[in-house]
Amino acid sequence: MAGRRLRNLIARYRDTLGLFRWLHREYGPIVRYRILGFEFCLLSDPELIEEVLYAKRQSFEKGFMYKRSLLLPRPTIITGDGEDHKRRRRLVQPYFDRRMLDANASIMAEQVVATRDEWRDGEILDMDGTAHELTLSISLEIFFGNTLQVDATMLRRVLKLCGIDIASAMLPSRRLRRLILSSFRRLRGAYRELAEQVLAGVQSARAEDTSRFDLVSYLARATDEDGEHAFSEEEVVDGVIEMLIASLTTTATTITWATYYLARNPVARERLEREVDETLNGRVPTFEDCERLRYTGAVISEVLRLAPPAYYLGRKATRDCTVGGYFIPAGANVQLFCFPSPRDERYFPHADEFRPERWLESQPARPRCSYMPFSSGTRGCAGEAFGRTNLTCALAGIAQQWRLDLVSEEFPKLNTLASYAFRDGLPVRASGRSQGS
Ligand code: HEM
Repeated sequence: MAGRRLRNLIARYRDTLGLFRWLHREYGPIVRYRILGFEFCLLSDPELIEEVLYAKRQSFEKGFMYKRSLLLPRPTIITGDGEDHKRRRRLVQPYFDRRMLDANASIMAEQVVATRDEWRDGEILDMDGTAHELTLSISLEIFFGNTLQVDATMLRRVLKLCGIDIASAMLPSRRLRRLILSSFRRLRGAYRELAEQVLAGVQSARAEDTSRFDLVSYLARATDEDGEHAFSEEEVVDGVIEMLIASLTTTATTITWATYYLARNPVARERLEREVDETLNGRVPTFEDCERLRYTGAVISEVLRLAPPAYYLGRKATRDCTVGGYFIPAGANVQLFCFPSPRDERYFPHADEFRPERWLESQPARPRCSYMPFSSGTRGCAGEAFGRTNLTCALAGIAQQWRLDLVSEEFPKLNTLASYAFRDGLPVRASGRSQGS
């Protein structure tokens, strides 16, 4: 693919998914290509992906995009590798256990109610913007708790800066990237302000011994086997910011895609409404309800099959190795393109159709990595249960009172640079509904 390096770069920034689909279609399940000084290897076959994530996982570490962050240069649970990652994962995982989910589900449900109560019958909403605001307000409460008064505007600015940081990761010059980032002075100011507030939160969480369930206090108080604080103050700041990055767009975009697919599939939408009415009988959903809303859960699985936010994952080969018999040199940037197989008829009959009920039937045998919206193996999503609970509360809470219809028949415009996301939002018309209607 030499000679196409610049064209590849332009295509990568303009339409990443389009570039990957074209490479897969033209060159098959494993393709080497170059962008500027970077060499990439795109793997699209679920068995090759499985080999990287399981049998050969010792030969790969997290991809370069994660590690080139200028804002989060220290290893974190997302960017760290090997023993360092294992330790962080072990320390963070209890934050997502059932007891915490039980407590957090009520915050999620309350925020959904507050959001849906603002809508008016016949109003046109940008669903994507609304879903992002909803997810942000949930994260504000759950991650920062009520001891830290973090302002939503500040958080939006910080996330924008992180987005610019990630998007510029492929530019070769660090100096140029630093210059770009520092030109966003207001965003940088917000970043510093947030970091200072979190640091103050760390100190107060460590000084007082009142029980707190927010993420800042949890990370601040986590201890290693020797009883010492497991994370430095700076690591807590990094940990909270990266948890926001990991959870916000993924969850919000899935709520928007669910709205899109339910509006396009009225039979599925009516079945979901029926289940919500019968299970909740007008109540706000609890964590236990979320487990009982099986069809709603199937809708979420089906949305994530057709629209996985993380539609490719980056890895780097740490040594020469082979995958599926193909040679992968040390240093190669491997992209696990997990978008094609969930849409492949061999693994999902009637793959183009939105059929949530397929997830309530016994599952046919298929390769383990043919469906992996939360990734798979030791680096699978730490927040899967948290994300699913959040999504269930959102879909159920909305369906209790509203039906959202698409304003346009056209397929939405996408921005796939970092995830399978919307470029210009998703306008929908809200119509009120009451139980049983
Ligand atoms: C629909 C929602 C979500 C989706 C689709 C999703 C997807 C993913 C995927 C694909 C990965 C693996 C990334 C990679 O290996 O390159 C991942 C990792 C991760 N996710 Fe999620 N995620 C979601 C929600 C969340 C939430 C709500 C949280 C936290 C509150 C979270 C926290 C994490 C963390 C900490 C990791 C790193 C795990 C590790 O490397 O050990 N995610 N997620």
